[in-house]
Amino acid sequence: MFKISPSILNADFYCLKDQLDILKEFNIEYLHIDVMDGNYVNNISFAFPILESLKDKGFKFDIHLMINDPDKFIDRFMFYGDIITIHPKTSNNLDKIFQKFKDSHKKLGFALNPDEEIPLIKEYFQYIDLILIMSVFPGYGGQKFMPKTLEKARKLQEIKKRYNIMLEIDGGIDLNTLRDLNNDYEFDLIVMGSALMNKNLVNNLENIRRLI
Ligand code: DX5
Ligand code: ZN
Repeated sequence: MFKISPSILNADFYCLKDQLDILKEFNIEYLHIDVMDGNYVNNISFAFPILESLKDKGFKFDIHLMINDPDKFIDRFMFYGDIITIHPKTSNNLDKIFQKFKDSHKKLGFALNPDEEIPLIKEYFQYIDLILIMSVFPGYGGQKFMPKTLEKARKLQEIKKRYNIMLEIDGGIDLNTLRDLNNDYEFDLIVMGSALMNKNLVNNLENIRRLI
């Protein structure tokens, strides 16, 4: 059974509190926090001030780092996040990161872009807790879902069981995609941004609840 991890990237920050209260009413546990540095991806989003104002408000943070050299900031993100996902090519200090997670209760995720394949992370299965399949190229919310990325999900089902690794998918997921994913795959977390965090939030959540 999957959990929805709502991405606040494209949320209307003017009414964020109202939206978060609604998420809580629907027992949403995680918030997906997209951190972008304008360097690894061609966009800039948000980081510590947002995490600081949202901490202790009843959500766990599923932090998705789309930044170069994440090891520079990893302690600070580990302070806030329950799951911290990095893109493996962004760091030359993976060993240092593995060590930090080994001594903590936090979960480390590795993301795979649509043009990155499983062999890229094969040697790291024993060090990671989660694999995030990107179903769009990282950088923006509101892009179109790329069905081809699901081939990776299929191949990872076996690895998920063998190494006890969580599976997450992120990008372009709407209610129809969600229905397909629910029927055919075993995801632990499914990120929903623009198709969820909009004016129809209550309606969207009711539809999701009907589905699961
Ligand atoms: C894309 C981000 C996604 C995005 C999801 O770079 O990693 O988390 O915000 O938003 P939607 O669901 O609109 O694609
Ligand atoms: Zn994301």
